[in-house]
Order: sequence, then C-alpha cells, then structure tokens
Amino acid sequence: MVTYIEAGAAPYKNTGAIRLYGPEGFEGMRQACRVTARCLDELVTRVRPGVTTEEIDRFVFEFGMDHGALPATLNYRGYTKSCCTSINHVVCHGIPNDKPLREGDIVNIDVTYVVDGWHGDSSRMYPVGEIKRAAERLLEVTHECLMRGIAAVRPGARTGAIGEAIQSYAEAERCAVVRDFCGHGVGRLFHDAPNILHYGNANEGPELKEGMIFTIEPMINIGRPHVKVLSDGWTAVTRDRSLSAQYEHTVGVTADGCEVFTLSPAGLFKPGIKALGTA
Ligand code: MF3
Ligand code: CO
Ligand code: CO
Repeated sequence: MVTYIEAGAAPYKNTGAIRLYGPEGFEGMRQACRVTARCLDELVTRVRPGVTTEEIDRFVFEFGMDHGALPATLNYRGYTKSCCTSINHVVCHGIPNDKPLREGDIVNIDVTYVVDGWHGDSSRMYPVGEIKRAAERLLEVTHECLMRGIAAVRPGARTGAIGEAIQSYAEAERCAVVRDFCGHGVGRLFHDAPNILHYGNANEGPELKEGMIFTIEPMINIGRPHVKVLSDGWTAVTRDRSLSAQYEHTVGVTADGCEVFTLSPAGLFKPGIKALGTA
C-alpha cells in the first residue's frame, strides 16, 4: 500500500510514506538546489588534467561554507567527503583522493547541499581535456536518458513511466541501465520514499502526485549493467570495467509536469561542456 502524507505533518525519518510538499517546500528546494547548481557550474573550469578529486572536494566544501550550505554527504553513514567523484568505470560514490585527473578521463561530480534543512542533489559529467568519441557518446546518451525521464513526469503517471522512458532509450542506443542504484525522494530528508527506478514499465510503481519531490539520476554503462562495490564500502564500479556515466537532477511534480530545481544558471548542464582553453 502506498501512502502519501502532507510533508509538514510527517516525522523526520523515512517511514515509506511519500511526502507531498507545498509552496514553502518548493521555495526551500529552489534555494538549496540553486546553490548546488552554481557549485557544479563553478567546477566546469576547475576540472582539468592534473587536478585531484581531493582538490575538487575541498572546493565543494568551501563553496558550501561561503553560501550557507552544508554538504549532506559529510558524515553521512560514515562517508567523510563533501561530494562523490566517479571516474571512468566508477558508476557512483567514488571517494575523492589525491590522484590527479588525467586527460581523457570522464568524471561525475555529485553534490548535495543542505540549505535551511532542504537538500539539493545533482550531478553532472565533466570531460577531462579531450575525451574519446565513445566516451562523448556515452555522456550524450546518459544526458538524454535523464531528459527523457524528466519529460515522463506528470501527475497521474506512475514512477515506472520514468524508468521505461530511460531504459527504452538507453537500450535502443546499445547501452545498459544500472539496476543497483536508483533515484529517491528528497526534500527535508536526503534519501526518502519513493525509489525512482531507471528501468521498468509505465504501469509499475506509485502514482506521481503534485507536490512530490525526488531525484532522477540514471547510471548508464557502455557494457553490461552489472556493478560491484569495492572494499572501501562505497566505490561502485562496472564488473566488466566498461565506462559508466550519470547525470542527476532534483525535480518537483507540478500540476502539469515538473519543475527542475537543479537547472544550471549558466546553461552548463549538458554534455560537451569543457574547461576554457581545452575546447
Ligand atoms: N548524492 C548521492 C545521491 O545522488 C548520494 C551520495 S551518498 C554518499 O543520492 F554518502 F555516497 F555520499
Ligand atoms: Co541522489
Ligand atoms: Co546525488
């Protein structure tokens, strides 16, 4: 049984009920998500060969401190960094470290800021210098998967409509959808009900209602869909070591579709965006 609950009246934990947010919730999410999107914009010129993911992490922390935003991942279930940096065959939850990025790498940077208790969760892919055509194509396919998932959001549809839109496009492009991680309700909580699967059928899952807020964050592989988590307990990689990509937006369901809270103010949320001087 799916239950829906007015967000203001809900306990501050994931009970499985789906929260419905009103105008204050939407306004709170706009503020938090704008800081996240601006940070991801700032990273475009900072992701270059030779830069370490630790340096990127420090920037994400400092940018948050400068903008009244706390990184939600800090001390989240034992995670100790301000963002996730997932390079090449890393699917998600890569941990920033002191290894320099190399020309040709593709890296996902996933940032969640908490502003006044609201969580803004978004990630994008960053090419490091010149990348191979196959990598470029994976970024294009993955970005298009997210956009098609977003286009499926409207009251009355089921969460499965999002998954179907993503899976059908990814597989038509001979790519694979990762099954082990999904999008999630977000708002007052970082990870809340419902799960948003990136595969499946339009007639599955709870019905989308105005006021729901969740992420869509497809992980798409060039090879097989299977992943494993490394012994650090976080880093998820493709089993076949094929390239993986991910884009993530936070959206809120409106009367006739959805509002995307994490749009780039500078129009940089798309593949093919490179650091100046390397274009
Ligand atoms: N931001 C990720 C998401 O999209 C979650 C990262 S949790 C962490 O849901 F602990 F790995 F950082
Ligand atoms: Co997320
Ligand atoms: Co995220």
